Amino acid sequence: MSDVTASACSATRNSYSAGLMFFGAARPHDLVREFGSPLYVYNERVLRERCRDLKGLSEDPGFRVCYSTKANGNPHLLRIIREEGLIADAMSPGELAVLKRAGFRREDICYVCNNVDAAELALANARADHVSVDSVSQVESFGRVNPGGRVMARVNPGIGAGHSSKVITAGKNTKFGIHPEDFGALRAVLKKHGLKLIGLNQHVGSLFMDPKPYLDAARWLLKTAVSFPGLEIIDFGGGFGIPYRKYDREKRLGLAEFGAGFGALLSDFRAKQGFSGIFIIEPGRYIAAECSILLGTVTAVKNNGRVRYAGTDMGFNVLARPMIYDSFHDLEIYPVDGKPRPLTLQTVVGNICETGDVLAKDRLVPELVEGDVVGVLDAGAYGQAMSSNYNQRLRPAEALVRPDGSCVLIRRRDTIEDLLAVYPE
Ligand code: LLP
Repeated sequence: MSDVTASACSATRNSYSAGLMFFGAARPHDLVREFGSPLYVYNERVLRERCRDLKGLSEDPGFRVCYSTKANGNPHLLRIIREEGLIADAMSPGELAVLKRAGFRREDICYVCNNVDAAELALANARADHVSVDSVSQVESFGRVNPGGRVMARVNPGIGAGHSSKVITAGKNTKFGIHPEDFGALRAVLKKHGLKLIGLNQHVGSLFMDPKPYLDAARWLLKTAVSFPGLEIIDFGGGFGIPYRKYDREKRLGLAEFGAGFGALLSDFRAKQGFSGIFIIEPGRYIAAECSILLGTVTAVKNNGRVRYAGTDMGFNVLARPMIYDSFHDLEIYPVDGKPRPLTLQTVVGNICETGDVLAKDRLVPELVEGDVVGVLDAGAYGQAMSSNYNQRLRPAEALVRPDGSCVLIRRRDTIEDLLAVYPE
Protein backbone atom coordinates (compact mmCIF):
# COMPACT_ATOMS: atom_id res chain seq x y z
CA MET A 1 0.00 0.00 0.00
CA SER A 2 1.40 3.36 -0.86
CA ASP A 3 -1.80 5.43 -0.88
CA VAL A 4 -2.11 8.36 1.44
CA THR A 5 -5.48 7.81 3.06
CA ALA A 6 -6.89 10.57 5.18
CA SER A 7 -9.80 9.70 7.39
CA ALA A 8 -12.43 12.21 8.35
CA CYS A 9 -12.35 11.20 11.99
CA SER A 10 -9.92 12.66 14.48
CA ALA A 11 -8.07 10.29 16.74
CA THR A 12 -5.67 9.98 19.60
CA ARG A 13 -3.48 6.94 20.17
CA ASN A 14 -2.14 6.60 23.68
CA SER A 15 -4.72 4.47 25.47
CA TYR A 16 -2.32 1.57 26.06
CA SER A 17 0.26 3.56 28.03
CA ALA A 18 -2.42 5.70 29.66
CA GLY A 19 -4.23 2.58 30.90
CA LEU A 20 -1.03 1.34 32.52
CA MET A 21 -0.04 4.81 33.79
CA PHE A 22 3.20 3.82 32.13
CA PHE A 23 4.91 7.20 32.39
CA GLY A 24 4.02 7.72 36.04
CA ALA A 25 3.65 11.34 37.01
CA ALA A 26 5.23 12.66 33.81
CA ARG A 27 4.07 13.15 30.22
CA PRO A 28 6.19 11.80 27.35
CA HIS A 29 7.01 15.37 26.25
CA ASP A 30 8.33 16.19 29.73
CA LEU A 31 10.53 13.09 29.71
CA VAL A 32 12.22 13.82 26.39
CA ARG A 33 12.68 17.43 27.48
CA GLU A 34 14.36 16.28 30.68
CA PHE A 35 16.41 13.30 29.46
CA GLY A 36 16.76 13.96 25.71
CA SER A 37 15.27 12.35 22.62
CA PRO A 38 15.27 9.48 21.73
CA LEU A 39 14.82 7.89 25.14
CA TYR A 40 14.13 4.36 26.35
CA VAL A 41 11.61 4.65 29.20
CA TYR A 42 11.14 1.62 31.47
CA ASN A 43 8.36 0.94 33.96
CA GLU A 44 9.51 -0.91 37.08
CA ARG A 45 6.04 -2.21 37.96
CA VAL A 46 5.61 -3.87 34.56
CA LEU A 47 9.09 -5.41 34.79
CA ARG A 48 8.33 -6.90 38.21
CA GLU A 49 4.98 -8.25 36.98
CA ARG A 50 6.63 -10.07 34.09
CA CYS A 51 9.19 -11.67 36.43
CA ARG A 52 6.35 -12.87 38.67
CA ASP A 53 4.34 -14.23 35.72
CA LEU A 54 7.14 -16.63 34.85
CA LYS A 55 8.10 -17.50 38.40
CA GLY A 56 4.49 -18.61 38.80
CA LEU A 57 4.76 -21.11 35.95
CA SER A 58 5.68 -24.03 38.17
CA GLU A 59 5.38 -24.95 41.84
CA ASP A 60 8.30 -27.36 41.52
CA PRO A 61 10.76 -26.51 44.33
CA GLY A 62 13.71 -26.90 41.96
CA PHE A 63 12.24 -24.65 39.24
CA ARG A 64 14.36 -21.56 38.42
CA VAL A 65 13.75 -18.65 36.07
CA CYS A 66 17.07 -17.62 34.57
CA TYR A 67 16.85 -14.20 32.89
CA SER A 68 18.74 -14.03 29.61
CA THR A 69 20.89 -10.93 30.00
CA LYS A 70 21.31 -10.46 26.25
CA ALA A 71 17.76 -9.07 26.01
CA ASN A 72 18.65 -6.07 28.16
CA GLY A 73 21.79 -5.73 30.25
CA ASN A 74 21.13 -2.48 32.10
CA PRO A 75 22.39 -3.14 35.66
CA HIS A 76 19.54 -1.10 37.17
CA LEU A 77 16.98 -3.37 35.53
CA LEU A 78 19.07 -6.44 36.37
CA ARG A 79 18.99 -5.42 40.03
CA ILE A 80 15.18 -5.40 39.97
CA ILE A 81 15.16 -8.78 38.24
CA ARG A 82 17.49 -10.13 40.95
CA GLU A 83 15.27 -8.72 43.68
CA GLU A 84 12.41 -10.68 42.12
CA GLY A 85 14.39 -13.86 42.74
CA LEU A 86 15.50 -14.68 39.21
CA ILE A 87 18.94 -16.04 38.38
CA ALA A 88 20.62 -15.01 35.10
CA ASP A 89 22.42 -16.32 32.08
CA ALA A 90 25.45 -14.65 30.59
CA MET A 91 27.19 -15.29 27.30
CA SER A 92 30.10 -12.84 27.28
CA PRO A 93 32.59 -11.25 29.68
CA GLY A 94 30.62 -8.00 29.35
CA GLU A 95 27.44 -9.72 30.51
CA LEU A 96 29.33 -11.16 33.49
CA ALA A 97 30.42 -7.61 34.34
CA VAL A 98 26.92 -6.09 34.24
CA LEU A 99 25.54 -8.99 36.28
CA LYS A 100 28.25 -8.46 38.89
CA ARG A 101 27.43 -4.75 38.99
CA ALA A 102 23.79 -5.69 39.63
CA GLY A 103 24.75 -7.91 42.58
CA PHE A 104 24.35 -11.35 41.04
CA ARG A 105 26.61 -13.86 42.79
CA ARG A 106 28.54 -16.68 41.15
CA GLU A 107 25.89 -19.18 42.19
CA ASP A 108 23.19 -17.09 40.45
CA ILE A 109 24.85 -17.19 37.04
CA CYS A 110 24.81 -19.75 34.21
CA TYR A 111 27.19 -19.16 31.33
CA VAL A 112 25.69 -20.31 28.03
CA CYS A 113 28.21 -19.55 25.33
CA ASN A 114 29.02 -20.34 21.74
CA ASN A 115 32.40 -20.52 19.98
CA VAL A 116 34.54 -18.86 22.64
CA ASP A 117 38.27 -19.06 23.30
CA ALA A 118 40.10 -20.73 26.18
CA ALA A 119 40.57 -17.48 28.12
CA GLU A 120 36.83 -16.82 28.07
CA LEU A 121 36.06 -20.38 29.20
CA ALA A 122 38.47 -19.95 32.11
CA LEU A 123 36.87 -16.63 33.09
CA ALA A 124 33.38 -18.10 32.83
CA ASN A 125 34.37 -21.06 34.94
CA ALA A 126 35.66 -18.72 37.64
CA ARG A 127 32.68 -16.36 37.61
CA ALA A 128 29.64 -18.56 36.89
CA ASP A 129 28.27 -21.50 38.77
CA HIS A 130 28.00 -23.58 35.65
CA VAL A 131 29.17 -23.26 32.09
CA SER A 132 27.40 -24.76 29.13
CA VAL A 133 29.30 -25.39 25.93
CA ASP A 134 27.74 -26.29 22.63
CA SER A 135 30.08 -28.39 20.54
CA VAL A 136 32.38 -31.35 21.13
CA SER A 137 35.29 -29.10 20.21
CA GLN A 138 34.27 -26.60 22.96
CA VAL A 139 34.01 -29.47 25.47
CA GLU A 140 37.57 -30.34 24.45
CA SER A 141 38.70 -26.72 25.07
CA PHE A 142 36.86 -26.65 28.40
CA GLY A 143 38.55 -29.91 29.42
CA ARG A 144 41.98 -28.45 28.67
CA VAL A 145 41.18 -25.34 30.73
CA ASN A 146 39.49 -27.14 33.60
CA PRO A 147 40.40 -30.87 33.63
CA GLY A 148 38.27 -32.87 36.06
CA GLY A 149 35.72 -30.02 36.23
CA ARG A 150 31.97 -29.78 35.92
CA VAL A 151 30.35 -28.80 32.63
CA MET A 152 26.99 -28.59 30.89
CA ALA A 153 26.31 -29.37 27.25
CA ARG A 154 23.90 -27.62 24.94
CA VAL A 155 22.14 -30.08 22.70
CA ASN A 156 20.12 -29.69 19.52
CA PRO A 157 16.65 -31.22 19.95
CA GLY A 158 15.93 -31.03 16.21
CA ILE A 159 12.88 -28.84 16.88
CA GLY A 160 13.09 -25.09 16.34
CA ALA A 161 10.74 -22.13 16.83
CA GLY A 162 10.95 -18.37 16.46
CA HIS A 163 9.65 -15.19 14.81
CA SER A 164 12.31 -15.21 12.07
CA SER A 165 14.67 -17.78 10.56
CA LYS A 166 17.45 -15.63 12.01
CA VAL A 167 16.43 -16.45 15.60
CA ILE A 168 15.52 -20.15 15.31
CA THR A 169 18.31 -21.83 17.24
CA ALA A 170 17.56 -25.53 16.98
CA GLY A 171 16.67 -27.92 14.18
CA LYS A 172 18.39 -28.31 10.82
CA ASN A 173 19.77 -24.87 9.97
CA THR A 174 21.58 -23.61 13.01
CA LYS A 175 25.09 -23.36 14.38
CA PHE A 176 23.87 -24.15 17.90
CA GLY A 177 23.88 -27.30 20.00
CA ILE A 178 25.43 -30.73 19.88
CA HIS A 179 23.66 -33.05 17.44
CA PRO A 180 22.57 -36.42 18.88
CA GLU A 181 24.86 -38.09 16.30
CA ASP A 182 27.76 -36.61 18.25
CA PHE A 183 26.74 -37.85 21.69
CA GLY A 184 29.26 -40.71 21.42
CA ALA A 185 32.07 -38.23 20.72
CA LEU A 186 30.80 -36.03 23.57
CA ARG A 187 31.02 -38.93 26.03
CA ALA A 188 34.54 -39.75 24.84
CA VAL A 189 35.81 -36.18 25.33
CA LEU A 190 34.17 -35.92 28.76
CA LYS A 191 35.96 -39.11 29.75
CA LYS A 192 39.28 -38.01 28.27
CA HIS A 193 39.36 -34.89 30.49
CA GLY A 194 37.66 -36.44 33.53
CA LEU A 195 34.80 -33.93 33.17
CA LYS A 196 31.51 -34.46 34.97
CA LEU A 197 28.50 -33.63 32.83
CA ILE A 198 26.22 -31.87 35.30
CA GLY A 199 23.54 -30.60 32.99
CA LEU A 200 21.93 -30.44 29.59
CA ASN A 201 20.40 -27.36 28.05
CA GLN A 202 18.73 -26.31 24.83
CA HIS A 203 17.10 -23.24 23.34
CA VAL A 204 14.67 -23.75 20.46
CA GLY A 205 14.60 -20.10 19.40
CA SER A 206 13.11 -16.73 20.18
CA LEU A 207 9.41 -15.87 20.32
CA PHE A 208 6.87 -18.62 20.32
CA MET A 209 3.18 -17.93 20.99
CA ASP A 210 2.17 -21.56 20.47
CA PRO A 211 3.72 -23.62 23.28
CA LYS A 212 3.70 -26.90 21.35
CA PRO A 213 7.23 -26.83 19.86
CA TYR A 214 8.69 -25.81 23.23
CA LEU A 215 6.86 -28.59 25.06
CA ASP A 216 7.78 -31.14 22.36
CA ALA A 217 11.43 -30.12 22.69
CA ALA A 218 11.18 -30.25 26.50
CA ARG A 219 9.86 -33.81 26.26
CA TRP A 220 12.77 -34.69 23.98
CA LEU A 221 15.28 -33.14 26.40
CA LEU A 222 13.90 -35.09 29.36
CA LYS A 223 14.08 -38.30 27.37
CA THR A 224 17.65 -37.49 26.37
CA ALA A 225 18.54 -36.70 29.99
CA VAL A 226 17.77 -40.28 30.97
CA SER A 227 20.73 -41.45 28.90
CA PHE A 228 23.12 -39.16 30.82
CA PRO A 229 22.86 -40.37 34.43
CA GLY A 230 23.88 -38.06 37.27
CA LEU A 231 22.62 -34.76 35.85
CA GLU A 232 21.91 -31.94 38.31
CA ILE A 233 20.46 -29.37 35.91
CA ILE A 234 18.03 -29.52 33.01
CA ASP A 235 17.63 -26.22 31.20
CA PHE A 236 14.88 -25.88 28.60
CA GLY A 237 15.85 -22.45 27.22
CA GLY A 238 13.86 -19.30 26.54
CA GLY A 239 11.73 -18.02 23.68
CA PHE A 240 8.50 -17.06 25.50
CA GLY A 241 6.71 -14.62 23.20
CA ILE A 242 4.87 -11.39 23.88
CA PRO A 243 2.06 -9.84 21.80
CA TYR A 244 3.58 -6.97 19.81
CA ARG A 245 0.26 -5.95 18.21
CA LYS A 246 -1.20 -4.26 21.26
CA TYR A 247 -3.66 -2.07 19.33
CA ASP A 248 -4.98 -5.14 17.46
CA ARG A 249 -5.52 -6.83 20.84
CA GLU A 250 -3.20 -9.70 19.98
CA LYS A 251 -3.62 -12.52 22.50
CA ARG A 252 -1.01 -13.15 25.15
CA LEU A 253 0.86 -16.43 25.45
CA GLY A 254 -1.39 -18.72 27.51
CA LEU A 255 0.83 -19.16 30.55
CA ALA A 256 -1.76 -21.10 32.57
CA GLU A 257 -2.13 -23.69 29.83
CA PHE A 258 1.62 -23.79 29.23
CA GLY A 259 2.31 -24.11 32.96
CA ALA A 260 -0.08 -27.03 33.29
CA GLY A 261 1.58 -29.00 30.47
CA PHE A 262 5.09 -28.06 31.54
CA GLY A 263 4.47 -28.74 35.25
CA ALA A 264 3.15 -32.21 34.43
CA LEU A 265 6.32 -33.00 32.45
CA LEU A 266 8.52 -31.94 35.35
CA SER A 267 6.68 -33.79 38.10
CA ASP A 268 6.40 -36.92 35.98
CA PHE A 269 10.16 -36.83 35.34
CA ARG A 270 10.97 -36.38 39.02
CA ALA A 271 8.69 -39.24 39.99
CA LYS A 272 9.89 -41.67 37.33
CA GLN A 273 13.61 -40.85 37.35
CA GLY A 274 14.09 -39.89 41.00
CA PHE A 275 15.58 -36.61 39.74
CA SER A 276 16.43 -34.20 42.57
CA GLY A 277 18.19 -31.48 40.56
CA ILE A 278 16.96 -28.17 39.16
CA PHE A 279 14.87 -27.26 36.14
CA ILE A 280 15.63 -23.98 34.40
CA ILE A 281 13.91 -21.78 31.84
CA GLU A 282 15.84 -18.94 30.20
CA PRO A 283 13.50 -16.12 29.15
CA GLY A 284 14.79 -12.78 27.91
CA ARG A 285 12.10 -11.11 25.81
CA TYR A 286 9.15 -12.05 28.03
CA ILE A 287 10.79 -10.40 31.03
CA ALA A 288 12.15 -7.26 29.38
CA ALA A 289 10.14 -6.34 26.27
CA GLU A 290 6.92 -4.89 27.61
CA CYS A 291 8.43 -2.76 30.37
CA SER A 292 9.78 -0.23 27.86
CA ILE A 293 8.40 2.34 25.49
CA LEU A 294 10.97 4.04 23.28
CA LEU A 295 10.22 7.74 22.85
CA GLY A 296 11.41 9.75 19.86
CA THR A 297 10.59 13.04 18.21
CA VAL A 298 9.24 13.85 14.76
CA THR A 299 11.81 16.09 13.10
CA ALA A 300 10.41 16.36 9.55
CA VAL A 301 7.42 15.27 7.47
CA LYS A 302 7.03 14.98 3.71
CA ASN A 303 5.30 13.26 0.85
CA ASN A 304 7.71 11.46 -1.46
CA GLY A 305 5.46 10.63 -4.39
CA ARG A 306 2.44 8.91 -2.88
CA VAL A 307 4.02 7.93 0.42
CA ARG A 308 3.84 10.18 3.45
CA TYR A 309 6.98 9.94 5.57
CA ALA A 310 7.33 11.02 9.16
CA GLY A 311 11.02 11.50 9.87
CA THR A 312 12.18 10.95 13.45
CA ASP A 313 15.34 10.72 15.50
CA MET A 314 14.80 6.94 15.91
CA GLY A 315 17.09 5.44 13.29
CA PHE A 316 17.92 1.76 13.19
CA ASN A 317 20.96 2.51 15.31
CA VAL A 318 18.44 3.13 18.12
CA LEU A 319 16.04 0.22 17.44
CA ALA A 320 17.41 -2.35 15.01
CA ARG A 321 14.62 -4.98 15.12
CA PRO A 322 12.41 -3.59 12.32
CA MET A 323 15.42 -3.29 10.00
CA ILE A 324 16.94 -6.69 10.80
CA TYR A 325 13.86 -8.91 11.14
CA ASP A 326 11.03 -6.77 9.68
CA SER A 327 9.70 -6.79 13.23
CA PHE A 328 6.48 -5.00 14.05
CA HIS A 329 6.33 -2.61 17.02
CA ASP A 330 3.10 -0.77 17.73
CA LEU A 331 3.18 3.01 17.89
CA GLU A 332 1.60 5.63 20.12
CA ILE A 333 1.41 9.29 19.23
CA TYR A 334 1.69 12.14 21.72
CA PRO A 335 0.81 15.27 19.72
CA VAL A 336 2.80 18.42 20.35
CA ASP A 337 -0.44 20.41 20.68
CA GLY A 338 -2.23 17.69 22.68
CA LYS A 339 -5.09 17.58 20.14
CA PRO A 340 -6.53 14.61 18.19
CA ARG A 341 -5.51 14.39 14.50
CA PRO A 342 -7.00 12.75 11.41
CA LEU A 343 -5.84 9.20 10.81
CA THR A 344 -3.35 9.09 7.96
CA LEU A 345 -1.33 6.32 6.36
CA GLN A 346 2.30 7.04 7.17
CA THR A 347 5.70 5.44 7.12
CA VAL A 348 7.81 6.33 10.10
CA VAL A 349 11.53 6.49 9.43
CA GLY A 350 14.76 7.47 11.17
CA ASN A 351 17.78 9.64 10.48
CA ILE A 352 20.24 7.02 9.20
CA CYS A 353 21.59 7.14 5.64
CA GLU A 354 19.99 3.94 4.37
CA THR A 355 16.67 3.32 2.63
CA GLY A 356 16.06 0.40 4.98
CA ASP A 357 15.93 2.79 7.92
CA VAL A 358 12.19 2.22 8.39
CA LEU A 359 10.75 1.98 11.89
CA ALA A 360 7.11 1.40 10.92
CA LYS A 361 5.77 0.99 7.39
CA ASP A 362 2.30 2.05 6.17
CA ARG A 363 0.71 2.74 9.54
CA LEU A 364 -2.72 4.28 9.82
CA VAL A 365 -2.10 6.53 12.82
CA PRO A 366 -2.90 10.15 13.74
CA GLU A 367 -1.16 12.46 11.29
CA LEU A 368 2.30 13.30 12.55
CA VAL A 369 3.77 16.79 12.51
CA GLU A 370 7.11 18.19 13.61
CA GLY A 371 7.51 18.23 17.37
CA ASP A 372 5.19 15.29 18.06
CA VAL A 373 6.57 12.57 20.28
CA VAL A 374 6.18 8.99 19.06
CA GLY A 375 6.20 6.00 21.43
CA VAL A 376 7.41 2.63 20.20
CA LEU A 377 5.88 -0.09 22.34
CA ASP A 378 7.53 -3.24 23.66
CA ALA A 379 11.02 -1.89 23.11
CA GLY A 380 12.67 -3.28 26.25
CA ALA A 381 14.07 -6.52 24.84
CA TYR A 382 16.74 -6.38 22.14
CA GLY A 383 16.17 -2.61 21.85
CA GLN A 384 18.91 -0.67 23.62
CA ALA A 385 20.84 -3.97 23.79
CA MET A 386 21.20 -3.97 19.99
CA SER A 387 21.63 -0.23 19.51
CA SER A 388 24.81 1.00 17.86
CA ASN A 389 26.84 4.05 16.98
CA TYR A 390 26.28 3.61 13.24
CA ASN A 391 26.68 6.92 11.38
CA GLN A 392 28.58 7.96 14.53
CA ARG A 393 25.25 8.62 16.22
CA LEU A 394 24.81 8.49 19.97
CA ARG A 395 23.01 5.63 21.68
CA PRO A 396 20.10 6.99 23.69
CA ALA A 397 19.62 7.44 27.42
CA GLU A 398 17.43 5.14 29.52
CA ALA A 399 15.06 6.27 32.27
CA LEU A 400 13.08 4.27 34.81
CA VAL A 401 9.59 5.09 36.09
CA ARG A 402 9.44 4.00 39.73
CA PRO A 403 6.29 2.53 41.31
CA ASP A 404 5.73 5.91 43.05
CA GLY A 405 5.53 7.60 39.62
CA SER A 406 8.90 9.34 39.78
CA CYS A 407 11.39 8.90 36.94
CA VAL A 408 15.17 8.51 37.19
CA LEU A 409 18.01 8.27 34.68
CA ILE A 410 19.46 4.72 34.55
CA ARG A 411 21.83 5.19 31.61
CA ARG A 412 23.13 8.42 30.25
CA ARG A 413 23.14 9.07 26.53
CA ASP A 414 26.50 8.55 24.77
CA THR A 415 28.56 11.66 24.23
CA ILE A 416 30.77 12.65 21.31
CA GLU A 417 33.69 12.17 23.75
CA ASP A 418 32.61 8.53 24.22
CA LEU A 419 32.81 8.06 20.46
CA LEU A 420 36.29 9.54 20.25
CA ALA A 421 37.64 7.83 23.39
CA VAL A 422 38.37 4.53 21.59
CA TYR A 423 40.77 6.03 19.03
CA PRO A 424 44.43 6.55 19.97
CA GLU A 425 45.37 10.23 19.35
N1 LLP B 1 18.88 -18.61 25.92
C1 LLP B 1 19.69 -18.61 24.88
C2 LLP B 1 20.77 -19.59 24.80
C3 LLP B 1 19.51 -17.67 23.85
O1 LLP B 1 20.31 -17.66 22.81
C4 LLP B 1 18.46 -16.72 23.96
C5 LLP B 1 18.24 -15.72 22.92
C6 LLP B 1 17.63 -16.77 25.10
C7 LLP B 1 17.87 -17.74 26.06
C8 LLP B 1 16.50 -15.79 25.32
O2 LLP B 1 15.56 -15.88 24.32
P1 LLP B 1 14.18 -15.05 24.45
O3 LLP B 1 13.46 -15.57 25.66
O4 LLP B 1 14.53 -13.63 24.61
O5 LLP B 1 13.45 -15.31 23.19
N2 LLP B 1 17.56 -10.21 18.68
C9 LLP B 1 16.40 -11.05 18.47
C10 LLP B 1 16.31 -12.16 19.48
C11 LLP B 1 17.57 -12.99 19.57
C12 LLP B 1 17.54 -14.03 20.65
C13 LLP B 1 18.89 -14.62 20.86
N3 LLP B 1 18.95 -15.62 21.85
C14 LLP B 1 15.15 -10.19 18.44
O6 LLP B 1 15.26 -8.97 18.58
O7 LLP B 1 14.05 -10.69 18.22
